[in-house]
Amino acid sequence: MLDKKVIELLNDQINKEFYSAYLYLDIANYYTANDLDGFANWYTIQAQEERDHALLFLKYLQINGIPVELKAIDKPDKIFSGHIDPLLAGAEHERYVTSLIHNIYDAAYGVKDFRTMQFLDWFVKEQMEEEENADKMVNKYKLFGDDPKSLYLLDQELAARIYSAPSLVL
Ligand code: FEO
Repeated sequence: MLDKKVIELLNDQINKEFYSAYLYLDIANYYTANDLDGFANWYTIQAQEERDHALLFLKYLQINGIPVELKAIDKPDKIFSGHIDPLLAGAEHERYVTSLIHNIYDAAYGVKDFRTMQFLDWFVKEQMEEEENADKMVNKYKLFGDDPKSLYLLDQELAARIYSAPSLVL
């Protein structure tokens, strides 16, 4: 049986990951509306990854015999007034998610829950990649976003992203 606080945080993380998917779908919507279909593709796939993260937390609780409570997902409420705004929001959001993962890890560490710590190890590493990718998006836009020809090429590059299932299998 897992610790009550750890269970609560793991259950909340299902909701946070689905919110991340919602946020990235909202970002994809913004870029679709602005004819940047490659950016929209990148964030649609990002939303699929977030759904996968949510399902991993859900399955981890189920495997441990914990009843899962699905909660309401907040409406994404960011206002984007320029093409760089969603990229900055994404980078900021990933840092927030990292803090959530570290918080669960801290709770698991406090009660010597080695099983949950090992489960979370994948997410700790994943968050390093998530932050790196989000920062790269911001930096690439800063480099190329002001020149229409370069922006077109960047959009083409982002259109090539394809979905791949998470490497963590439970
Ligand atoms: Fe589920 Fe983008 O981290």
